[in-house]
Amino acid sequence: MSVEINFFSPIEGNFEFQLEPIFGASFTKYPKNLIEDIKNRLKPFKEKNSTMVVCGMGGSSLGAKTIDSFAKAFNKPEHQLVFLDNLDPTMVKHSLETIDWKNTLFCFVSKSGTTLETIVLLNLILKELKKRKLPIEEKVIFIGDRGKNFETLANKLGCQFFEIPSNVDGRFSVLTSTGLVPAHFIDFDIEELWEGAKEALKDKSKNNVALQLAQFKIQHLFKGRNISVMFSYGNYIFTFAFWYSQLWAESLGKEGKGQTPLKALGTVDQHSLVQLFREGPDDKIYQFITVKNIKWDLQLPEETLVLDYIAGKKISQIFKALYEGTKNALLKTHRPLVEIVLDRYSAFNLGYLFMLYMLATVAAAQILKVNPFGQPGVELGKKLAKEKLKKLK
Ligand code: PA5
Repeated sequence: MSVEINFFSPIEGNFEFQLEPIFGASFTKYPKNLIEDIKNRLKPFKEKNSTMVVCGMGGSSLGAKTIDSFAKAFNKPEHQLVFLDNLDPTMVKHSLETIDWKNTLFCFVSKSGTTLETIVLLNLILKELKKRKLPIEEKVIFIGDRGKNFETLANKLGCQFFEIPSNVDGRFSVLTSTGLVPAHFIDFDIEELWEGAKEALKDKSKNNVALQLAQFKIQHLFKGRNISVMFSYGNYIFTFAFWYSQLWAESLGKEGKGQTPLKALGTVDQHSLVQLFREGPDDKIYQFITVKNIKWDLQLPEETLVLDYIAGKKISQIFKALYEGTKNALLKTHRPLVEIVLDRYSAFNLGYLFMLYMLATVAAAQILKVNPFGQPGVELGKKLAKEKLKKLK
């Protein structure tokens, strides 16, 4: 097994799960034809462009961002991804000014095809492409729901369109076109990604570790631990915590229920959050996530300044000691903790992690009796913004 999961306190209670809605969920379906289709249709774009700018919000970009970050820990691809996933005017302006337009492909991702930020970016970028007389159909692709705005637009502009199955919600869509198209652009092995996902689906019983994870986290929520920390040891795995945060927060935060995700980066946050974690309120559960074997390492000289006990050591050994130190310090304080250790950065392991957490989220929703799909709570803010914009001259 390439991913090891250790629970450091017992899993109590015995929640009854309905297994079919978990293991039969829409995001568990292997998209064999889509994988072939992506490879074929992306080929000419890969030949002509070295960069893909991914424009999408929330579930339409966080998965691809996680893949991109993970890939950087074990691969040096010829192609690169850039993400435009905010409307900060300064950031957008700076990004558009630095783009190598001739060698860049723009990938617009939106299930609904109506998300304000994405549509703003689309309009700005189309304007720039026209100004530069670059052919839209060679420079732009769309990912979205069949029959919605983005398919219509793709047809109108003569652009390629990749489908997200309509029954897969944005934050559960990383293993569909949303994640697979950008992943394939940077030569991330999308078949291996799915092999890992399938591994997480092998045991379709209540003993599946995803269901245990859900049970573990929610049992502590019922004891007042309403914050769920994802302590990522490694910069290239930290982006996974952003993807996880959206999944856990948007899927479960309903009807007065939910567990607040909190992202922490090791070792950075040892110097920022660990004081609170050890001596603050006992209102959190901790997920420590790390990678055992890393590809690129450095060694210290045989004689070192200030600290002699680090002489000749590898950075990975020091990083690991700090990881173990923090983990064990929290355990000594009796904080509930689950540890997830990947044997290495790989497409397989990331696919496993994605599926593990999507299954755990749906299982947690069952325990909490909330619908994990949809996000009705975000609509009001969008509506108010729209009203304000309509009134603006
Ligand atoms: O999980 C979700 O469904 C949402 O967070 C969406 O991903 C996000 O709002 C973007 O929506 P869309 O893909 O329709 O642009």
